[in-house]
Amino acid sequence: MSLIEGWYPPTRENYERLLFWWQIGYPICGSLQWVISWYGMGKTSVSSRFNIPGRLAWITMECPGFLTLLYVMNTLPQKAGVDDLPFQNRVLGGLFVIHYCYRAVLFPLLQPSMSPIHVGVWSLAFGFQVCNALCISSWLSAYGPTTTEAWSSVCSVPQFIFGIGIFYLGLSSNFFHDEELREIRRREQKRQERIRKKAGGDGQAAGVEKHYQIPQAGLFRYMLYPHYLSEWVEWFGFWMAAGWGCAPARAFLVNEIFSMLPRAVNGKKWYMERFGEDKIKKKWAIIPGVW
Ligand SMILES: NC(=O)c1ccc[n+]([C@@H]2O[C@H](COP(=O)([O-])OP(=O)(O)OC[C@H]3O[C@@H](n4cnc5c(N)ncnc54)[C@H](OP(=O)(O)O)[C@@H]3O)[C@@H](O)[C@H]2O)c1
Repeated sequence: MSLIEGWYPPTRENYERLLFWWQIGYPICGSLQWVISWYGMGKTSVSSRFNIPGRLAWITMECPGFLTLLYVMNTLPQKAGVDDLPFQNRVLGGLFVIHYCYRAVLFPLLQPSMSPIHVGVWSLAFGFQVCNALCISSWLSAYGPTTTEAWSSVCSVPQFIFGIGIFYLGLSSNFFHDEELREIRRREQKRQERIRKKAGGDGQAAGVEKHYQIPQAGLFRYMLYPHYLSEWVEWFGFWMAAGWGCAPARAFLVNEIFSMLPRAVNGKKWYMERFGEDKIKKKWAIIPGVW
């Protein structure tokens, strides 16, 4: 049974069609951020009746990715006549799910507060998740290597293990730097609470929504978006483990760079306007020595 005939899960023809456009269309779409300054999310979000509350928007736009992968990996192999997937396919699918259990579910629940997200940005992120997960899961389920012999010509076991090591390094670093941003708001929450207690517990705390400081821990000392860079490291490791010829894994990394690089470069301008050039100009946006 298919959720959407021919697409969920995709036939080989539709998978190839989607992958082709995914590799061309998304880089164009992401590049528009160099010329359009509006971005209805996070620091640059403004009030609008088309805004969705941050946490709700985040969960609903990110969850379709790993849910799609789980659905396709549970239905497509049987349709394509694949009896048993090699361990590499399962491990890579598992890594994708682990990442999104954090990114889509835990991350929004752990954030002390999240700015609202405009429905336009929500739609683009939703589209990203669905297209990306369809490409990766189709490759893992049927249209990439599905036997031990096929894997031996795609990626050696040492390369597979090394790639997973890089993935975990990126994942830990991404979590560590996300945590530093959360800590800024937790500290502010505690500060407000102390003030309130000193005043006899009267009055309401101002809240920490849109409370920003310059993060300092770890790689934040040198750059403003180490959490983005760490995420690129993560998906670079995934691509390495899938073999350099894995077009969906390569497209995932390339599309993340097209989406996040302009955001980090524009983010540096935002930091300079907010905190002054003197405090920010010595920090890189995201790639030390380049941006
Ligand atoms: N954005 C993307 O296109 C994208 C794509 C793939 C993966 N990701 C990953 O998703 C995670 C979140 O991405 P994002 O674009 O939302 O990152 P972000 O703009 O750095 O914001 C992350 C969270 O930290 C808060 N925050 C940001 N800067 C802060 C500061 N200076 N002081 C205090 N709090 C601060 C934000 O609050 P507000 O919401 O109030 O601004 C938000 O809740 C990252 O780990 C990233 O690698 C993002």
